Amino acid sequence: PDSYETILVETRGRVGWITLNRPEALNALNTQIMRDVVAAASAFDADESIGAIVLTGSERAFAAGADIKEMESKSGLEMIMGDHFGEWARFAALRTPVIAAVSGYALGGGCELAMMCDIILAADTAKFGQPEINLGVIPGMGGSQRLIRAVGYYKAAELVLTGRMMDAAEAERSGLVSRVVPAADLLSEASKTAETIASKSLPSVYAAKAALDAAMETSLAEGLRFERHAFAALFDTADQKEGMSAFREKRSPDFQNR
Ligand code: CAA
Repeated sequence: PDSYETILVETRGRVGWITLNRPEALNALNTQIMRDVVAAASAFDADESIGAIVLTGSERAFAAGADIKEMESKSGLEMIMGDHFGEWARFAALRTPVIAAVSGYALGGGCELAMMCDIILAADTAKFGQPEINLGVIPGMGGSQRLIRAVGYYKAAELVLTGRMMDAAEAERSGLVSRVVPAADLLSEASKTAETIASKSLPSVYAAKAALDAAMETSLAEGLRFERHAFAALFDTADQKEGMSAFREKRSPDFQNR
């Protein structure tokens, strides 16, 4: 739809692009931007012609957190009954891989939104942090949980308890980002990565994302069971036959997403 107020949406080939666009607030995540992002991403997810999604912000900020001015006067009851960040769960549950292309600030909810994505590409200008403790609260969109899984307990605990920011190099050393690139190359690198993923067989891409998600959420034994079944199920796709015969015949596969 053209009706989004807070994001820009574009389709380039098989890649769906979502650009956070609240420059006046460094892309702070209010209810409207949550609804817009979830609606646009869900529409891409339901569209078989889309094989990957890129989520990005501005040069200055991916997103500087949840919108503090929107939350400030709320009661605990209102946060719970309004399910304040609830819809983001639908973003985290997309089947299509999402690449976060992060330039500038990814703080609080911005860092948490990046961590709901599957790949995080960071410009060398990126800054990550969970500064909620400076506001008298704690991370509220997954930061206390996903950050530990990304960087381990001690790095996550230091960031969450002190609220300090880390730069792109530290984020890469810590395992929070997939790759750091020069700021000028961020969008072209995101585009290349997304196009590479979108050129694969969609059923196998869905299965790979689901298996990776399982690793974050379940025991090793359960994750291995999930992987074995997902692997086996792909042998009923035409694309598995095509991919393996293309290998044998020394040519590129022609995937039909079937
Ligand atoms: N919410 C609402 N507005 C915000 C915002 C936020 N998270 N972050 C920035 N803005 C607004 C500022 O209020 C300012 O608006 P005005 O011009 O109307 O005053 C505008 O964006 C530009 O910001 P600054 O003037 O502050 O820019 P700066 O370059 O001096 O500083 C910054 C940049 C260090 C990122 C600073 O803006 C900042 O600290 N922002 C808040 C970061 C933060 O605490 N994030 C966590 C939010 S809570 C959360 O996310 C909960 C959760 O877990 C889901």
